[in-house]
Amino acid sequence: MYIIQIASECAPVAKVGGLGDVVFGLSRELEIRGNAVEIILPKYDCLRYDKIFGLQVAYQDLWVPWYGGAIHCTVFFGFVDGRKCFFIDAHGEHNFFNRRTFYGQHDDDQRFAFFCRAALEFMLKSNKHPDVIHCHDWQTGLVPVLLYEIYQQLGMRHPRVCYTLHNLQHQGVTREHILRAAGLNRHAYFYHQDRLQDNFNSSALNLMKGGIVYANFVTTVSPRYLDEILYSAQNYGLGHTLHVHRGKLGGILNGLDYDVWNPETDRHIPRRYGLEHLDDKFVNKAALRSRFWLRDALRPVVCYVGRLDQQKGLPLVAHAIHYCLNQGCQFVLLGTAADGRIAHQFQELKRHYNDHPDCHIELGFNEELSHLIYAGAEMIIVPSLFEPCGLTQMIGLKYGTVPIVRATGGLADTIFDADYAPKPYHERNGYTFNDFNNAGIESALHRAIGLWYSYPRYFRELMENGMRCDYSWNHPGQHYLNVYEYIRDK
Ligand code: ADP
Ligand code: GLC
Repeated sequence: MYIIQIASECAPVAKVGGLGDVVFGLSRELEIRGNAVEIILPKYDCLRYDKIFGLQVAYQDLWVPWYGGAIHCTVFFGFVDGRKCFFIDAHGEHNFFNRRTFYGQHDDDQRFAFFCRAALEFMLKSNKHPDVIHCHDWQTGLVPVLLYEIYQQLGMRHPRVCYTLHNLQHQGVTREHILRAAGLNRHAYFYHQDRLQDNFNSSALNLMKGGIVYANFVTTVSPRYLDEILYSAQNYGLGHTLHVHRGKLGGILNGLDYDVWNPETDRHIPRRYGLEHLDDKFVNKAALRSRFWLRDALRPVVCYVGRLDQQKGLPLVAHAIHYCLNQGCQFVLLGTAADGRIAHQFQELKRHYNDHPDCHIELGFNEELSHLIYAGAEMIIVPSLFEPCGLTQMIGLKYGTVPIVRATGGLADTIFDADYAPKPYHERNGYTFNDFNNAGIESALHRAIGLWYSYPRYFRELMENGMRCDYSWNHPGQHYLNVYEYIRDK
């Protein structure tokens, strides 16, 4: 099968969070299974160009229709760890992708609506007729809309669209100008509750809703999250739309690319290790301590790696730091905040713990360092308010770093409580809690830290149980292929 992924992220060249990992990992798995896969991305100026091999012009003068005129683009091609990627470079006054950042610009709606239009225009002009276009999140919600309303009539009759929802908190809610910009000119037709009109605000336009309405199949990144968005307020207003389109919805748990996330082969850690030689993990613990000037003592290292966003349960992260330090642990945090207020709070926290011998807070995005933290820590906390899938708990498992998570979304689908899960002990792999408050996370931390101090043998068994879990792309890869075949043949 021939599949084109259209996305705003792909690891390691354009990664803000898990979306990047998923686009890369799924593409790799699909290729291993004999499919032809291409990825279309914006050519951001902040791409990791050191990770792109053989970058060259693939299409010189692409004129992309925009507000009655057209914007001049150049499309580049390059390999990203073996994956075939096309990068759309938009010239002209808007300078859409040269902002030194991926997201967070005042005109993000236009930047990504333009990206959708450009991706399809490129496919049309370069005669690409994939069986399936797979697009992701609100940034590419317009792809199926444009395909069925414009590009089919221009000859692109073949492709079907699979649309994956990674996070319903961000829906690309915008205004009418986007329709005119993208060439969707029948205002009343698109501004309809059955199409792109926002369910909350009748004068707003919702790009993610457009993706859900127009795609042939819609997936969420875990089965539990699908349940939650259908039956709780977590859908941020898209509940009705999801119910109307219930027949084409599915929940597929993300995989983890064990070529990238594997302590036995990881190039970013000082000592590789696996189930057979787990003691070598502690060489990494020592390296992590010396990197962050933490003292050498008989204490477990607890970590947090992730975006500093309300979604991630930040008050509980902050509380966990204080609690762990009081309970005889060390704590390491790696994170970035897009929001200025949150950034400030964590800078304050960093200042507060600056000279603490058991705590280090690292603010910034650092892929290589994240590997050392996963390898060196013994526990990882993920106390999210909601979590569509979550990858850090799965990475933790693979690295023998016991996850302590709030039982929501994909976290509930992957982590099974050491004391209470209705499963045999060898299938339990971490600690979970329900209540989104300090007592909730303490109830899980208390048990985890207690096990580490009082029953090290059992703690080690828990680490090993996690390392034995298979959250590779093997199963989800097959699920996605089933979806692709289903929509192709329909
Ligand atoms: P989300 O997509 O909501 O951010 P996920 O758990 O799905 O959460 O994926 C997060 C991914 O981003 C993981 O690969 C994690 O290691 C990585 N990551 C998050 N923050 C940072 C950071 N500050 N530095 C390096 N990697 C990070
Ligand atoms: C989103 C979600 C996260 C998920 C990731 C990849 O960013 O917040 O839970 O793991 O997408 O699907």
